Amino acid sequence: MDEQLYTNAGRLISPDLTPGESEELSLRPRTLEDYIGQEKVKENLRIYLTAAQRRGEPMDHILLYGPPGLGKTTLAGIVAQEMGVQIRITSGPAIEKPGDLAALLTNLQEGDVLFIDEIHRLSRQVEEVLYPALEDYALDIMIGKGPSAQSIRINLPRFTLIGATTRAGQLTGPLRDRFGVLLKLELYSPDELARIIRRSAGILEQPCTEEGALELARCSRGTPRVANRLLKRVRDFAVVLGDGTIDGETARLALGRMAIDKLGLDELDRNLLRAVIELYGGGPVGLDTLAAALGEEAVTLEDVCEPYLMQMGFLTRTPRGRCVTRLAYEHLGLKAPEKPDPIRESGQQSMY
Ligand code: ADE
Repeated sequence: MDEQLYTNAGRLISPDLTPGESEELSLRPRTLEDYIGQEKVKENLRIYLTAAQRRGEPMDHILLYGPPGLGKTTLAGIVAQEMGVQIRITSGPAIEKPGDLAALLTNLQEGDVLFIDEIHRLSRQVEEVLYPALEDYALDIMIGKGPSAQSIRINLPRFTLIGATTRAGQLTGPLRDRFGVLLKLELYSPDELARIIRRSAGILEQPCTEEGALELARCSRGTPRVANRLLKRVRDFAVVLGDGTIDGETARLALGRMAIDKLGLDELDRNLLRAVIELYGGGPVGLDTLAAALGEEAVTLEDVCEPYLMQMGFLTRTPRGRCVTRLAYEHLGLKAPEKPDPIRESGQQSMY
């Protein structure tokens, strides 16, 4: 268990933080007011937070789900900040044994937020300990072994669990049912990402024009984490090769140098599409076969590449495997075969 961090009112104390990471943390909004995008999620969350505050109770347990990099940890921090409590951050794989979870829970203060990232990766044993903690704010602990074993119940402070997952479908039913609030995060629009980039540029004291921000936003795969990472890299190009300002021209130059194309696809995305086309005739091909062909982990393709490729209308998932669409052929400058386009058949729509 080495992944726990404490944050309090925006302060983060951890020996493990690198300077780069703390800079990223400084870019995170701390209030709902400052949080850009996810309008539906924000509206509902504001109501739940206000209601809990009026009742003088902790927030109900919240499950946040959606692709990585959309701000699940940030939102959890905002909930803690708005409720005026501390947040303790950990992740499913970091909680190895029931005792690890017990240690976390017994160290919480009344009202605190416990954030568990990748909650779908909790072991069954740990999950069992979590159920009474969520429902009754209690821990059931076995003392001793064999016939003399006894179960004792320890009361816990009332707390809010915020679970985050990229795959809500992998959560067990009993765990999912114990969350009172389920919030689905969606990929951001280029416009929202441009606003996030300009906000971040302001915090970094980096001049950035509207056009520059929009160029970066279009290549950020709907994801603030990517947007902020691109901003930092393009800043280097602007400082070394230009006059320090990120404008449209600098952004395009830097993106070209980083092999990111005008729709934000990188080498791996293009390799994935090319593999489906060149090795499997456009699909269908199973995810594991594709991952083996690319020498990548299946989860990387599924969590990182596919949500964006599907949103862009380049890839579809069918029961028989992944298929590329006519748009993908066109984007790669290849001639599509004369056969029905799966994207039209599935009724899925492109974002652009
Ligand atoms: N930085 C990262 N995500 C953000 C968001 N949703 N709003 C504002 N700034 C952000």
